Amino acid sequence: MSRLDVRVKTRLPASVYFLSGVDQREETVTVNELSLSGALIEGLSFEIKEPITISPKFPNLGKIELFAEVVRANNSRAAVRFYYPDRTIIPMLWDYLLEALSSQEGCPYCGHNNGAGGKSCGKCGNYLDFKDAAYLDRHFVNTFTARIKGRQNRLESEHLQRIISFIDTELLNIQGQSPDREFVGTSPALLDVFSMIRKVARTDMSVLILGESGTGKELTAAAIHERSERKRKPFIAVNCAAIPEGLLEAELFGYEKGAFTGAYATKLGKFEIADGGTLFLDEIGDLSPGLQAKLLRFLEDRTVEKVGAKSGRKVDVRIVAATNCDLNGMIEKGSFRHDLFFRLNAFTIKLPPLRERGEDPVLLAKYFLKKIGLAGKSSLKGFSEAALRAIREYSWPGNVRELINKVRRGAVMAGGEFIEPCDMELDRQTITIGKEPTTFSDKVSEAKKDLVLEALATSNFVIARAARVLRISRPSLYALMKKYEIKLPSQ
Ligand SMILES: Nc1ncnc2c1ncn2[C@@H]1O[C@H](COP(=O)(O)OP(=O)(O)OP(=O)(O)O)[C@@H](O)[C@H]1O
Ligand SMILES: [Mg+2]
Repeated sequence: MSRLDVRVKTRLPASVYFLSGVDQREETVTVNELSLSGALIEGLSFEIKEPITISPKFPNLGKIELFAEVVRANNSRAAVRFYYPDRTIIPMLWDYLLEALSSQEGCPYCGHNNGAGGKSCGKCGNYLDFKDAAYLDRHFVNTFTARIKGRQNRLESEHLQRIISFIDTELLNIQGQSPDREFVGTSPALLDVFSMIRKVARTDMSVLILGESGTGKELTAAAIHERSERKRKPFIAVNCAAIPEGLLEAELFGYEKGAFTGAYATKLGKFEIADGGTLFLDEIGDLSPGLQAKLLRFLEDRTVEKVGAKSGRKVDVRIVAATNCDLNGMIEKGSFRHDLFFRLNAFTIKLPPLRERGEDPVLLAKYFLKKIGLAGKSSLKGFSEAALRAIREYSWPGNVRELINKVRRGAVMAGGEFIEPCDMELDRQTITIGKEPTTFSDKVSEAKKDLVLEALATSNFVIARAARVLRISRPSLYALMKKYEIKLPSQ
């Protein structure tokens, strides 16, 4: 079997630093084998369990400090694995390895002697053109894939989550994603969605996202944008249901000065603002017939016409639309244009409801609890077994959005070390009574309670701060907390 990494034989002296109690100690060792992922060293005088720093004395290079841990040790010999807090060090190490490789015979992966020829090893098939500038990237992808294959059976959902985020940040180079845009889930249904996002992101196709309320439609649209060539250009979201019909046209397409009373200056529409980027049209089912026609025209000739303008202007915008309406039913009733549906439907992503995502609700609950933070509640350790069971069994009609609210509620309401089902209103009693608000005033109370809980959680339960967030007085906040039976955490 071939190795996963290019390893060279060497005799490099190196210093190893590690903490012993509170003292920093140093040992001089010899690096016998070196690769990008680790080394074999000799000369350690005793067993080290703590992380170490290795600084090999490279003949022609500056000082490099490699963070590592000992993975195997036998007498004075040890195998260590490197960690790279940042990747700037890798090219330096690679320079050394490249030089050492030039005087080494045989494939550095499997030892096969390939003679003079070929860019790939005749035996193990690994790519061997070390001078290729893209070699390192290629190498990382290959070793990463090989490692995954080797460990497939031992992976747990949390590992998968880490792998997905590694693919995004390291391989697809999606940097600086807002933490609010993290996509959590490892159920087969959601992995299918990830795979569709990746496939369609790099194209310029219009995408239609379907899914129940709170399933992550906007998150999906943003994920498509972030993974596309347009990622450095704007991602503009417009909720077609939230803007009154009369204003939506001006909002989307802009207007010319004097187009109507009150149009004192020319206004850019969202299409123009999103030029080069992505326009996310949420709740597309609420678009009026007039605007449906205008959107269709845009999809046909990529031109937008401001209200009151005599001619159109070309804009380069990718359309991602979403709805939780039954568009087919609307087409049958004649309230949604078939031709527009046909254009938007070039690629459809159907988001599965949370109840069909296996263990994801538990993963999401733990994720959001960590994100909300246990600050202000030093005693809170997580969810009780009963709470985890309740999270698994609940049907989540409001999907991820509802789950976030319940976790937030649980974090605020928990009195002990663990969040219990009743803290999240997931106990049988509250569920069977039917806590999902149905009347308008129930919905308003529920929304108010959620706002108070959110303000408290994000303000570390400091009343004055939470009141400021809500822009109400402290007494009003106390009154609301009393009304909704919200108690401050016992520290
Ligand atoms: N898989 C997920 N991982 C992490 N967060 C998620 C996930 N899915 C949704 N969310 C979060 O849940 C919330 C609701 O998601 P989003 O707004 O994208 O849903 P939606 O389908 O657009 O909802 P609505 O129909 O109510 O507009 C957001 O805060 C989003 O970041
Ligand atoms: Mg939405």
